Amino acid sequence: MNKVIIIFIFISFGCYSQKTPARPTGLVASKAMVVSAREEASKIGIEILKKGGNAFDAMIATELALAVAYPYAGNLGGGGFMVYRKASGEIGSLDYREKAPLAATKDMFLDEKGNVIKGKSTETALAIGIPGTIAGIFAVHKKLGSLPIAEILKPVIALAETGIIVTKRQESRLNDYRSKIIKVNGDKTLFATVYKENDIIKYPALAATLKRISKNGRDEFYKGKTAEILVKFLREKGAIITMKDLAKYEAKWRKPLTFDYKDLHIISMAPPSSGGICMAQIFKMIEPFDLATMGHNSTNSIQVIVEAERRAYADRSYFLGDPDFIKIPLETLMSPTYLKQRMSNFTFDKATLSSTIKEGKVNLNESTETTHYSIVDQFGNAVSATTTLNDGYGSKYYCDELGFFLNNEMDDFSAKPGEPNMFGLVGNEANSIAPQKRMLSSMTPTIVEKNGKLYMVVGSPGGSTIITSVLQTILNVYEHNLSMQEAVNVPRFHHQWLPDLITFEPKTFDSTTFENLKFKGYIINEKTTPVIGKVDAILVLPNKTLEGGADFRGDDKAVGF
Ligand code: DON
Repeated sequence: MNKVIIIFIFISFGCYSQKTPARPTGLVASKAMVVSAREEASKIGIEILKKGGNAFDAMIATELALAVAYPYAGNLGGGGFMVYRKASGEIGSLDYREKAPLAATKDMFLDEKGNVIKGKSTETALAIGIPGTIAGIFAVHKKLGSLPIAEILKPVIALAETGIIVTKRQESRLNDYRSKIIKVNGDKTLFATVYKENDIIKYPALAATLKRISKNGRDEFYKGKTAEILVKFLREKGAIITMKDLAKYEAKWRKPLTFDYKDLHIISMAPPSSGGICMAQIFKMIEPFDLATMGHNSTNSIQVIVEAERRAYADRSYFLGDPDFIKIPLETLMSPTYLKQRMSNFTFDKATLSSTIKEGKVNLNESTETTHYSIVDQFGNAVSATTTLNDGYGSKYYCDELGFFLNNEMDDFSAKPGEPNMFGLVGNEANSIAPQKRMLSSMTPTIVEKNGKLYMVVGSPGGSTIITSVLQTILNVYEHNLSMQEAVNVPRFHHQWLPDLITFEPKTFDSTTFENLKFKGYIINEKTTPVIGKVDAILVLPNKTLEGGADFRGDDKAVGF
């Protein structure tokens, strides 16, 4: 088998840049593109670019337009990560992830016996982390923006005032969540109303909040009237976030996590997101195998990817957390020797059970929501940003006076070593709760270069499945020669070490593949078959035009010019 692998390596290294690229099947634009979860948000991003703004101005507008058009995940009350690459090749990344309040404690979600109290880290006001989004967009504006903030926010405020047309998917999401929203906010709250497809929802309170922010700047949210209203609301609901917490919040510029896969150079998010490091480990572990020849979603290629995923997620659980609080052995985790050794017990004959790597007990819940958008501007700058409230509509706490939902990001901490969070992810001391600490994330906003040039901008929601969705999308284009849109469309699968299950998207894989995998000892998740990820991406085609990949799993839309 080893000889075969070595031959594959030579064949693939010899010809990987010579494939004829797939014909685009997504929207093609000649200069600039925004792909996001809602057409309204993509259009506003493009409007800013057409006014002469750059990708960073468009990022600010798109991020906030999503807070209006897609309150399921778009937010003022959450946080996110942004990776950029300027036309000059300069790269960077911003961490505007939520933080634990000063009054948070390690055991805040445990009972007196030390057991996790179900729902406390997801459904109570204690689940809310200090929001980072407004600090994030102002940090971007200060360092990289070109238009005045008032000009960028103008179309967003107008959108909040004129309102959003409810889509079929939004109608059903609101139906699913209405009782939970009423439970914590009462029946006078905006989303107590039953909205149907094609109804219009207006957001006057959010428009007023955005106007104050536009006028008074970042401090309006962290120290001003907005902060006061927010803290009063949070206190009434039993949260522990104070004015001091808000005042102390800062977004942080971090060095992106970069690595090579064959002739690609991949730029992604470093901790406190696990996205970049986990994806780097998986890519490096699969690099010696010729996935293109094995075939897209073939039994063998699923095996290689699953085995690499299993090992990377086991490391995630033990080693990763907020780098401002813990030391992460990044160099070792990414070293070729370590990763080679990690895969050394893999064989195509049978599954390596997760219990033989490390033990744990978990259950995997249905995927919920976050949102990703990708931008390339007419100057050649690229932005990849993923932002979240964690769960769909976050903690469900909605401040009617300010017009936005609050996150339940505290659940991304490890409440107790070995206990699964809502994504079934287990964690350890590295990701334990501490005041001012950032909870570990899986968000993986990513930019890919090929031959030193911009090649792809990509990212996804999907909790723990984000990393594997982004990975598969890149492989689909690069190894399997799919167009950007096809690469987004094709079915995905996921393994995260624990629970020891491969999850496949519903009704998309054939039964022979399942039988082959089961025969080799793989355990297939036949009960929960959720949608995996919702990828929004842009590919730079050889003639320099851009192809969008907007995920049909949602209302996502590419807009360009
Ligand atoms: O940061 C994280 O990894 C999670 N809070 C992301 C949540 C998410 O993607 C939910 N969406 N499907």
